[in-house]
Amino acid sequence: EQEALVVFTPSGKRGHVPRGTRVLQAARMLGVDLDSVCGGRGICSKCQIAPQFGEFPKHGLTATPDALSPRNAVEDRYDRIRGLEEGRRLGCQATIEGDIVIDVPPESQVHRQVVRKDADARAIVMDPATHLHFVEVAEPDMHEPRGDCERLAEALREQWGIAGTVVPLSVLARLQTALRKGNWSVTVALWRGDDGPARVIDVWPGFHEGRIYGLAVDVGSTTIAAHLTDLRNGTVRASAGVMNPQIRFGEDLMSRVSYAMMNPGGDREMTRAVREAIDGLADTLAQQAGVTARDIVEAVFVCNPVMHHLLLGIDPVELGQAPFALAMSGALDLEARDLGLRQINEAARIYVLPCIAGHVGADAAAVALSERPDLSDDLVLIVDVGTNAEILLGNRERVLACSSPTGPAFEGAQISAGQRAAPGAIERVAIDPVTKEPRFKVIGCDLWSDEPGFAEAIAGTGVTGICGSGIIEAVAEMRMAGIVDAAGLIGSAEQVGSPRCEAQGRTHAYLLWDGTATGGPRISVTQGDIRAIQLAKSALYAGARLLMDAMGTDRVDRVVLAGAFGAHISPKHAMVLGMIPDVPLEAVRSAGNAAGTGARIALCSVAARREVERLVRRIHKVETAIEPRFQEHFVAANAIPHASDPFPNLAR
Ligand code: FES
Repeated sequence: EQEALVVFTPSGKRGHVPRGTRVLQAARMLGVDLDSVCGGRGICSKCQIAPQFGEFPKHGLTATPDALSPRNAVEDRYDRIRGLEEGRRLGCQATIEGDIVIDVPPESQVHRQVVRKDADARAIVMDPATHLHFVEVAEPDMHEPRGDCERLAEALREQWGIAGTVVPLSVLARLQTALRKGNWSVTVALWRGDDGPARVIDVWPGFHEGRIYGLAVDVGSTTIAAHLTDLRNGTVRASAGVMNPQIRFGEDLMSRVSYAMMNPGGDREMTRAVREAIDGLADTLAQQAGVTARDIVEAVFVCNPVMHHLLLGIDPVELGQAPFALAMSGALDLEARDLGLRQINEAARIYVLPCIAGHVGADAAAVALSERPDLSDDLVLIVDVGTNAEILLGNRERVLACSSPTGPAFEGAQISAGQRAAPGAIERVAIDPVTKEPRFKVIGCDLWSDEPGFAEAIAGTGVTGICGSGIIEAVAEMRMAGIVDAAGLIGSAEQVGSPRCEAQGRTHAYLLWDGTATGGPRISVTQGDIRAIQLAKSALYAGARLLMDAMGTDRVDRVVLAGAFGAHISPKHAMVLGMIPDVPLEAVRSAGNAAGTGARIALCSVAARREVERLVRRIHKVETAIEPRFQEHFVAANAIPHASDPFPNLAR
């Protein structure tokens, strides 16, 4: 018999191959995912497989140890140098001699699944744009005038079936040395992120032992966060965040747009600042992970439209006025040098996710990619809470999006004792409905304020202020304890029955903490604070309602809170305030930094890039600014929780 039956696990792919076929070749014939960087030369060890012997009634075969050729000299040498795990073989060396079951371990799969930390989310399937390829290039010949670059391209075509290769100047300058040092073999990092020709990003002499990395960057108005990711297996090797240095030109987006309008060259200053910060982050992450700038061969960016334009070096003035026209809404494929980035490989490929509209940016597109409302059977409302709230509502049939001007109150700004989430900030609050006495927790301390040892535990930082989640809980608790009425008015000490309600001019403030005895501040929730929270929450609720109107529904099935801040909001308090429409509390989930996750998915998968491009074209944008219903919803949502929405789940 000339043929053998081979079954690959875990894929279950099977078929007959001629005896003597190498396992790597059989895998390719049957469409099985088996990795290889060296193209079957026994150098890279990426093709490792685990043959299974014994009876396999399910597959109708019995596999004996001689179903695979004995270990050859290449494997022996490999084993001596690096050690081959017990029971493993090199798929490019072993040949199939009889019926057999072959397991492809996860590290040998090209499109392996990366399980995300958020348990109910879909896994990321690895499909990176950049791969390493080992090639043997023909030596130059006096009688044959082709250059090294042309011979490299030919070798890639012959050995890897890659037709048409673009070699940038930075690589060209290294190519000759690499070829000669590697004795006419080199490893290239090859990018194939679109239908165009493959692009060489870098070249190393001989077989390159190192790994290649990508940077997933979320450029927010306040912070820039980045993850350094191994492009082979999707592992995050290091993560870090820095303040966006553009803050010195304006706290929020509109003030940065006006800075660009009022100051000639102001946009360029902000572009320089953000690019320098990204370079700094890349450098920090590379150092943390012990990799070089050269090893970072790709980067993916997500950002809101104003950050998007400033990152690209485009004046954002058009985004400051109707009709909020983007210079470019589609996705972008660029090179690091286009953005003047220096702390990653100079030929590194940059992918910027598409924007949904002039107010709903690539960050919202990334949230959509991470959460995939378009794959949901039930109607899901996704709220990314930041200075602007981006809101998505949809299911398999339709996805709508809008942005809503919540302002920075949810981040602790414009609040009398407000501060960013940092040690010392009050982040959780509970108020006894009978005594009206508060207790709270501060960031950096595990104890509640009424627990023994609290004073000692916070002696270092003290209680410094209140952050976004803290103010939301405080206002919601004040409402539940009857300190604040439905209109948002704080009662007097007599009305409420608590000396903590202190008169402040014609209004009242509720004292949360008096730290003056130890030189600290007095932290109160003032009438102004309540107003700021009312404005922010009304804007959020009104945006969500507007999308529900457009969808023709007055209820949603579930709510996802995204954004770093979303991760800290208590769903109950958000609902008591009327920030989000009424749903059962158990149907509210926090998705953490979904925009950052979306960036990471796009970094790891070319297919995901095409998916988000398709998805963004399908998302229907609802404009809040020109919609009269927005104002109506906004006014009705001013009451806590709402003037007319009964919030039945809250009443339960
Ligand atoms: Fe590289 Fe087998 S493919 S060692």
